[in-house]
Amino acid sequence: MGALTHARYTSTAIALHWLVALLLLGQIAFGLALEDIPRGTPARGYYVNLHKSSGILIGLLILLRLGWRLAHTPPPLPATTPRWQRRAARVSHILLYACMLALPLSGYLASNFSKHGVKFFNVVRWAPWGPDDKALYAVFNGAHRFAALLLALLVAMHVLAVAKHMLIDRDGLLLRMWPQRRARAGRLPANLPLENR
Ligand code: HEM
Ligand code: HEM
Repeated sequence: MGALTHARYTSTAIALHWLVALLLLGQIAFGLALEDIPRGTPARGYYVNLHKSSGILIGLLILLRLGWRLAHTPPPLPATTPRWQRRAARVSHILLYACMLALPLSGYLASNFSKHGVKFFNVVRWAPWGPDDKALYAVFNGAHRFAALLLALLVAMHVLAVAKHMLIDRDGLLLRMWPQRRARAGRLPANLPLENR
C-alpha cells in the first residue's frame, strides 16, 4: 500500500464526515418519500414539517463541519499524486460543500415564501418572514430539487473515485477518512504483564 495510509484526517473531521454523510443520505430518502404523501392531507403537513426541522438541524451541523474544515488544513496528499487528481479532488470537494449548503438554505428560503413557514418538529410555529409568493417558492423549491440531484450525482462520483483508489490503485485512500482502531489493550490477554500491554 502507498504512503497515503500514513496521513489521516483528524478524528473530529472523520466523525463529522460520516455523521453528515449518513444524515444527508437519510434526508434525501425522506425528501423523496414525501412525494408519496397526498397533498392537502394532515399527514403531509406533519411529515413535511419533520423534514424541514431535521433539515435545519442537519444544516447547522453542515455549518459546523464547514467551519471546522476552514480552520483545519486536510492531511497532504502524497507528492506523487498527479496534478489532475489533486484538481479533481479539490473541485469535487468544493462542489460537495456547495450542495451541502445549498440544500438546507434553499429549503429554508422556499418555506419562508410560502404561507406554511416552518412548524419546528410540529411543536413551535415559526411564522414565515417573507410573503406568500408562488414564483419565489418555485425558484427556491426548484433549486432544492436541483441541489439534491446534483449532490446524489457528486456522491456517486465520490464513491467511485474512492473505489478506484482502493481497488485499482490500491493506495488505501479510504483509510484517510476511516476511524482509527483504538489501542489494542482491551483485546490483549489478561495474563500479559502490564508493561507489555
Ligand atoms: C439538509 C438537507 C436536506 C436535504 C438533503 C433535502 C432533500 C430533499 C429532497 C430529496 C426532496 C424531494 C425533492 C423532489 O421532490 O424531487 C425534498 C423536498 C422538500 N424539502 Fe428538503 N432537504 C433538506 C433540507 C430541507 C430544509 C431545511 C427544508 C425547509 C426548512 C426543506 C424543505 C423541503 C420541502 C418543503 C420539500 C417538499 C417539496 C415539494 O414536495 O414540493 N428541506 N428535500
Ligand atoms: C453524503 C455522502 C458524502 C458526502 C457529502 C461526502 C463529502 C466529502 C467531502 C466534502 C470530503 C472532503 C473533505 C475535506 O477535505 O474537507 C470528503 C472526503 C472523503 N470522503 Fe466523503 N462524502 C460522502 C460519502 C462518502 C462515502 C460513502 C465514502 C466511502 C466510499 C467517502 C469517502 C471519503 C474519503 C476517503 C475522503 C477523503 C478523500 C481525500 O483524502 O482526499 N465519502 N467527503
